This record gives sequence, C-alpha cells and structure tokens, in this order.
Amino acid sequence: MKLNLIKRIVLGLSMLYLPLQSMAWGANGHRICGQIADSYLTPKARKAVQAILGTESIAITSNWADFVKSDPKYGYLYNWHFINIEKEVTDAEMKELLKKDTTADAYTKINYLVGELKKKTISKDAKLLALRMLIHIVEDIHQPLHTGHFSDKGGNDVKLTWFNNPTNLHSVWDSQLIDFQQLSYTEYTAWINHTTLAQRTEWQKAPLSQWLLESNHLAAKIYDSAKDGDKLNVYRYNYDYIGILNQQLLKGGVRLAGLLNQIFG
Ligand code: ADE
Ligand code: ZN
Ligand code: ZN
Repeated sequence: MKLNLIKRIVLGLSMLYLPLQSMAWGANGHRICGQIADSYLTPKARKAVQAILGTESIAITSNWADFVKSDPKYGYLYNWHFINIEKEVTDAEMKELLKKDTTADAYTKINYLVGELKKKTISKDAKLLALRMLIHIVEDIHQPLHTGHFSDKGGNDVKLTWFNNPTNLHSVWDSQLIDFQQLSYTEYTAWINHTTLAQRTEWQKAPLSQWLLESNHLAAKIYDSAKDGDKLNVYRYNYDYIGILNQQLLKGGVRLAGLLNQIFG
C-alpha cells in the first residue's frame, strides 16, 4: 500500500517534469557553456558584459532565451535557436548554403546580433536582448542537433525510451546525457574546463561556418546512433557519446568567450 503511494508520487512527479524537456541544451548545458565562456573573457570584455547584464552572470543569463519561449511577445525568436541542414555537407557546400541563407535562423541571427552589439547607438534594453540571444545561440549551435534535419525537427521526432521514460533524440542531447552525470553546472564546468592556449586559439579562429560544419558532421553520427522507437541502453550510450558532448560544451564556451572578447575588446 505504502509502496504504491510512493510509486504514484514518483510517477506524478516524473510526468510534471516531461513537458520541460526538448528545448535547447537543457538549463545546465547552457549554464556550463556560459560558465566556461566566463573563464576566458578578457578584463575589458568582462567589464562590458557586466555593464549590460548587471548582477546576472553569463551562465544564468544563458537560459533567458528558453524561458521566454512561453511568452508570445517573443515568438519571433523561435527560429533563431537552430539552423536546419538536411544532410551531411562538405565545407564548400556549407559555405555555399550559408551564402544563400536569408531566413531567420541561428546563422543569420548570430551575424545580425554581433553587428547590433558593436553599435554604439542602440538602447540599453536592445543591447541586453541582443547579448542574451547571442550567448544562447552560440551555445545552442554546439548542440549538434541544432543543425539537424527540418523533417524531424532536429531529432525531436525521433522517439526513444530512456530508462523506461519516453523521450527523443534531441532531448537526449539537450538534457538527458548531461543530467545523467548528476553534477551541478559549476561541478560540471570544473570537470571539463581544461584547455591549452593553442587549443583555444584554434577553436576561436575557425569561422562560424566551421563551427556549423563540425556540428553538422556530429549530427550525422548522432542520427546513426539511435533510430525512432529504440529503447536506449543508457550506460552504453553514455559511454560512447559523453566525450563528444563534453567537447562540444567546451568548444561552445571557448568560442563564445572569443566572440565576446572580439566584440567588446
Ligand atoms: N527545435 C525545434 N525545432 C527544431 C528544428 N527544426 N531543428 C532543431 N531544433 C529544433
Ligand atoms: Zn535554444
Ligand atoms: Zn535543443
């Protein structure tokens, strides 16, 4: 009887949790990228960022773009979080594709936001929105499925089972794999934030097209990793993919820092 009650409470709580999934790097994924970025800012960039964000850290402000998805006022930002690329492409194909890209997506909006933040004349509120969005989207595009296929909404329609719970491929990469580590975002950052100057320089100097190409190639691997209807062997999946995931969190943070240093340097 008592066990039944506990089961019902656990089931009830897990159902409450489900609708929160499937957004973008989950809350902690964004915070980890943001915290890593923070550790590589120049003093000048840190001061400029703080002047815009006030008391809010980069880690915490990273999630704003997902929180406002529930407010219709910000509905126009929905497509800024990703860029859909239908297949694995070459570097030349990627550059061609981006050259012709005129839609509202992660690529065109990162370029737009960098331009906005470099302006001296925009209002305080506009600057805050631009910085919050730029931080978030640079992080998002390092989640490989944010460069995924339009037809399955970047893996959102690839339905999977994770420890008996229904989920999808996109959500596994946004949230479940990260949550599986059972670390706070600061603990997680301390775990993975180890880089050399040579590595940071190489990652930061690559153009945005290269960031997207890397994600596109990883997305192809990830699409091969699980098929619609699969019940994942979580321990094995974690063993095979956590290295890639952590590398993407790290690259996202390092590149975000490079971009902010460039804008505010
Ligand atoms: N999130 C929601 N729709 C998406 C899409 N089409 N691609 C990637 N991420 C998404
Ligand atoms: Zn997002
Ligand atoms: Zn996502």
